[in-house]
Amino acid sequence: MSIEIIATNLFLFYVAGYETTASIASFTAYELSRFPETLEKAQRDVREAMEKHNNKLTYETIQDMKYLDLCIMETTRKYPGLPILNRQCTHDYPLPDSDLVIKSGTPVIISLLGLHRDEKYFPEPMLWDPERFLQGRYDPVAFMPFGEGPRQCIAQRLGKIIVKVALAKLLLNFNIEFNPVRKEIEIANYGVPIMAKGGINIRLSKRKEIQSHLSAIALQLVMFLLLLLTACTAAFFYIKWNYTYWQRKGFPYYEPKIPFGVLDEVRKRKATFGIAVSDVYRNTKDRVVGIYLMTRPALLVRDAHLARDMLTRDFESFHDRGIHVDDEKDPQSSGGVFFLKGLDWKSLRVKLTPLFTSGKLKAMFGTVEDVGDKMVNYLNAQLPDEGAKEVEMKSVMSTFAIDIIASVILGLEVDSFVEPNNAIRNISRKINLPTLERLFMRLGWREEAPNMMRDLVKQTIQMREAHNISRKDMLQLLMQLRNKGEINADDNDWSATKVGKGGQ
Ligand code: HEM
Repeated sequence: MSIEIIATNLFLFYVAGYETTASIASFTAYELSRFPETLEKAQRDVREAMEKHNNKLTYETIQDMKYLDLCIMETTRKYPGLPILNRQCTHDYPLPDSDLVIKSGTPVIISLLGLHRDEKYFPEPMLWDPERFLQGRYDPVAFMPFGEGPRQCIAQRLGKIIVKVALAKLLLNFNIEFNPVRKEIEIANYGVPIMAKGGINIRLSKRKEIQSHLSAIALQLVMFLLLLLTACTAAFFYIKWNYTYWQRKGFPYYEPKIPFGVLDEVRKRKATFGIAVSDVYRNTKDRVVGIYLMTRPALLVRDAHLARDMLTRDFESFHDRGIHVDDEKDPQSSGGVFFLKGLDWKSLRVKLTPLFTSGKLKAMFGTVEDVGDKMVNYLNAQLPDEGAKEVEMKSVMSTFAIDIIASVILGLEVDSFVEPNNAIRNISRKINLPTLERLFMRLGWREEAPNMMRDLVKQTIQMREAHNISRKDMLQLLMQLRNKGEINADDNDWSATKVGKGGQ
């Protein structure tokens, strides 16, 4: 495994990890501020788990916070971190119980936001009610906040730990003030994960108990214009014909708005891609619906059981995401586990999976807790000694998540609450995430941040190797993989010293 591949995947973890965890943590805090009884139960759950573990927040302590788990599950239901799952059909797939065939190469989109807010699967879908999971008031088949099957989120355990520590620290140290006038969150028309328009404000207070050849040119011009006209006419008819793809194949379809298809609202900046797709979900009835991403036909799956079958039982026909990466033009994506296809993906996924075992995450837990304390210190400094103050939770949780990811992934001990101008924050400021539609339309994604990350990774690896430094983080495990060919099964052995000729 080369340093480039290590850096690419660490960058991917960084990008995939911080916005999702920050959103889930801040949406949960917001919903708790709307439901005082649920808030009280969550506070009690956290306190009881702490008492059981001698007031120490350890890996085991957070496993015992069962009610908090329900709260987080309900947030990932109502506000799924990623609003859609996507796959590409990799073998012609006969649609069960029909004569229709999904052709190999067709993009398949599953609207998580659509499924998770569908009355059919989750009664009263707009009500944030963690106890629906206790009472069985949901269809488990439709609940897939981390995706499903072999390609589901590789780091869901880590994601849950980060969110749980953030919320546990918040509930232990501060009062979240009940605010009956808080309304439904309005979802922003930007961002890949679901974001709240205008941020997420909640009122917090301190808890007391714890802290020139003219004619020739003219002729050429006329020729050119004629050619242009012919090309435009041909393009017009081609595009019109292209927009009959689903009709010709006999699939139910959503009447396309030429030339942008479902991306029309996205183009007008009225909605993100995830929201535009969930609008189509809400406004249609069939279990599959043909849509167009500009001229590209894609299939929206509206049936949870079919979606789950595609992601799990029939994975062999849907193992790729269908996101095109140009190895030369998009070096930051090439080699990333999120983007790889077929056997390349499988082989890397197998190598990376041991990074996220409970044993490894347990060993890294101390870091997560330390960053949680920094968040508590920051909030304590912001809040008055008496009374409450409105705090924008999303930015607090983003800072928390960035520092955790920086530390757990790269071993960087930064405190962005105190020193916002550090290496990792500077990288995050340069990140200009591609929109989902941009990835679908194969427009690529070029930017500066991955190169900065690569330099940082190179320097850190060189420094660790030169001084024989070993640290409990993901970079260390990837150095092990590079130098020893595999990640050590022994959770206490973090050394990455080269054996034989391993590594490059
Ligand atoms: C609460 C937080 C998180 C949520 C809700 C979340 C959600 C998701 C979802 C829905 C997918 C797509 C799964 C599919 O297509 O079936 C995904 C994939 C992925 N996630 Fe997460 N994620 C979270 C945290 C993280 C973190 C912390 C990391 C890294 C440190 C991460 C790394 C990845 C990667 C690498 C993939 C691609 C896996 C592959 O293609 O093999 N995620 N995540």
